[in-house]
Amino acid sequence: MPETIISASILNSDLSNLRGAVKRANDSGAGWLHFDVMDGEFVQQITFGSSVLEAVKPHTSAFLDVHLMVTHPQRQVKLFADAGADMITFHAESYCDPAKVIDEIHALGKKAGIAIKPGTHVVTARPYIAAADMVLIMTVEPGYGGQGFIESTLGKIREVRALAPDKDIEVDGGINPETAERVREAGANVLVAGTYLFRSADMSEAVRSLKG
Ligand code: DX5
Ligand code: ZN
Repeated sequence: MPETIISASILNSDLSNLRGAVKRANDSGAGWLHFDVMDGEFVQQITFGSSVLEAVKPHTSAFLDVHLMVTHPQRQVKLFADAGADMITFHAESYCDPAKVIDEIHALGKKAGIAIKPGTHVVTARPYIAAADMVLIMTVEPGYGGQGFIESTLGKIREVRALAPDKDIEVDGGINPETAERVREAGANVLVAGTYLFRSADMSEAVRSLKG
C-alpha cells in the first residue's frame, strides 16, 4: 500500500488570515494542502476559485490537492492547472464525461482524481479508476467541514483498495486520530483533515497522530 499522506484542508482554517493558515500547514509536516472548491450548485456553499490557489502557490511548496465540488468540472480544470494545482479531483456525480475530464487533466500535466459522495456506490467510479491517479471516497457529505464521519464509507474504502492495491485512496471529512486509524486499516492512504488539524494547538503533533 502507498505511504500515508496528510492533506491539510484550509476550508476550516482562519480564512481572514489565509497566509498564516498556509504557514501553519507548511510547518506542520502535512505534505499536501487541500482546496475545497464549491460552486453554489453542486453544493450550496461557494468557497474559492483558482485565483486563490494562484495567490497561495508562492507561499508553499506543498503538493496542491484541489477538490472540485462543482457541477461542471471541465470548466475549471485548465484554470486550476494554470494556477498551479498538482492534483485535480472531480466528482463522478458531476455533469461530465469522467474519462474525458481525466484525459484533459493529464494533458495539462497534472494528476487526476475521481471522487464519490457517501451515498454513491463504488460501481459508479469503477470504470474510471484505472485511468485516475487517485480515488477520493468522501467520508462526509460534501459541503461543510466539521461534520461527523460516516461509518458506511469504510466498506467502500476496502472495496476500492481491493480493486486498486497500489493507487492513492483519499478520504475526506470527519478525520481525527480515532477515525484515521480505521480508514488506514480499511486501506486509505491520503487523509484530508481540516477541523482537527487547524483546531490543534500543536499541528505537527496532530499530523503525526493521524499518520499513526
Ligand atoms: C467537505 C470538504 C472537506 C472538509 C473536511 O465538503 O470536502 O475537505 O474540509 O473537513 P473536516 O476535516 O473538518 O471534516
Ligand atoms: Zn475536500
